[in-house]
Amino acid sequence: METKSVQLKIDGQVVKARPGVSVLQAAREAGLYIPALCELEGLLPGSSCRLCLIKIKDRPSFVPACATQAEEGMEVMTSSEELEKLRQATFELILSEHPYFCLLCGEKADCNELKVTMSKAFDPGGCVFCPKDGDCDLQQVASYLKIKKVSYKFKDRGRPQWLQDPFISHNPNLCILCGRCVSVCGEIRGENVLTFVNRGPATAIGTFYNRPL
Ligand code: SF4
Ligand code: SF4
Ligand code: FES
Repeated sequence: METKSVQLKIDGQVVKARPGVSVLQAAREAGLYIPALCELEGLLPGSSCRLCLIKIKDRPSFVPACATQAEEGMEVMTSSEELEKLRQATFELILSEHPYFCLLCGEKADCNELKVTMSKAFDPGGCVFCPKDGDCDLQQVASYLKIKKVSYKFKDRGRPQWLQDPFISHNPNLCILCGRCVSVCGEIRGENVLTFVNRGPATAIGTFYNRPL
């Protein structure tokens, strides 16, 4: 039996979405980009990064697109001066603890040529030698926001890396605490091994009761 789709408008564009999907997913499937750093399709939304905030007509406050179900007749605005200011401020905070120099670098388009002249140890400290370079949500958000500056000095957390496990490497100094690894571990793998540990500025990804993996 054919499932009836839901019709809504996103930034003035008519979008047909599968019933039950989030506005973020509906936008994505229609080829529209909404910045998002903590959502993973098919998993429960953590709604922690706050980058996917949107405005829905006749609703008083901004809502996260990842945790808002697409509804018939909904009119969604994904961008405005206020939304972009909020995103910029949130993103700068996220980057204050992630090496962001490559994201701001005016020469980044030519970096592949420069790479042959560089050598660097295991800790990438920037995009150039990062395995995610070129396929990175942070880079995508930075490019969307056309980010030119970060108001905060980069703070290296100086935490030890997990290098003792044959299957998982984790560099807590690069972690933006998006929670995706925790969701995948719990909801897809069904293991519930990874979790957030500590509180406030000391928050990190760890294991329950600090047990070895
Ligand atoms: S994850 Fe890697 S590629 Fe992405 S912004 Fe950070 S250092 Fe650059
Ligand atoms: S380690 Fe986990 S919480 Fe940290 S950035 Fe990676 S997926 Fe996100
Ligand atoms: S993707 Fe929606 S809050 Fe992070």
